[in-house]
Amino acid sequence: MIVVIDGPAGSGKSSTARAVAHELNIQYLDSGALYRAVTYLFLKSEQSLPKFFESLYSAQLTFKFDNEFQVILNGEVITEAIRDPMVSLHVSGIAAIAKVREFINAIMKKAVQHDVYIADGRDLGTAVFPNAKCKFFMIADLETRAKRRFLELKNLKKDVSYSSVLKSIKNRDKSDYNRKISPLKKTKDSLLINTTNLTKRACFLKIK
Ligand code: DC
Repeated sequence: MIVVIDGPAGSGKSSTARAVAHELNIQYLDSGALYRAVTYLFLKSEQSLPKFFESLYSAQLTFKFDNEFQVILNGEVITEAIRDPMVSLHVSGIAAIAKVREFINAIMKKAVQHDVYIADGRDLGTAVFPNAKCKFFMIADLETRAKRRFLELKNLKKDVSYSSVLKSIKNRDKSDYNRKISPLKKTKDSLLINTTNLTKRACFLKIK
């Protein structure tokens, strides 16, 4: 069984999904983290895109949820590295590529077969798990989302300015909502939650 939460960056999906997973003792899947992992691999490979695709399927990309959502790439834990602003800058472009989406969708569909999951992303309700029984779509004002991301990055001791985070989120919104393949879109059967004025606890209670 799977519950999905889609929405733009900083809308509160991940923190809510994580809290629900902890409370209900179920698995959590952060699909954005997998797109970040592929982006990290691409940046590290220093290859052209066609060459990179040749090697993509030999990459061992796995994840586990124990307290935090951990991403492991070829044996290396990259949970923190994928939050780097360079990865954030390039991830929407990489996520717009069909081959990348096929690769990640296959990993996610296989993983959720054997457990109960709550997952967050952009296209989970529309493209990846259209038959999910419980679908949510979270939104919030741009400035609120940028402030949340800025504080998260500051907590991770990243050297970023608020204006650069705002710009990055604006650009990602544009790409995520307008890309040709699996754009960010609310489905008719998902519940809309505007988190602009909601605390983390209030978001959690809306879904739980
Ligand atoms: O949730 P996040 O901000 O870490 O996601 C990073 C990027 O990954 C986001 O800009 C778009 C992409 N993404 C996607 O295309 N599809 C998903 N299901 C999840 C994320």
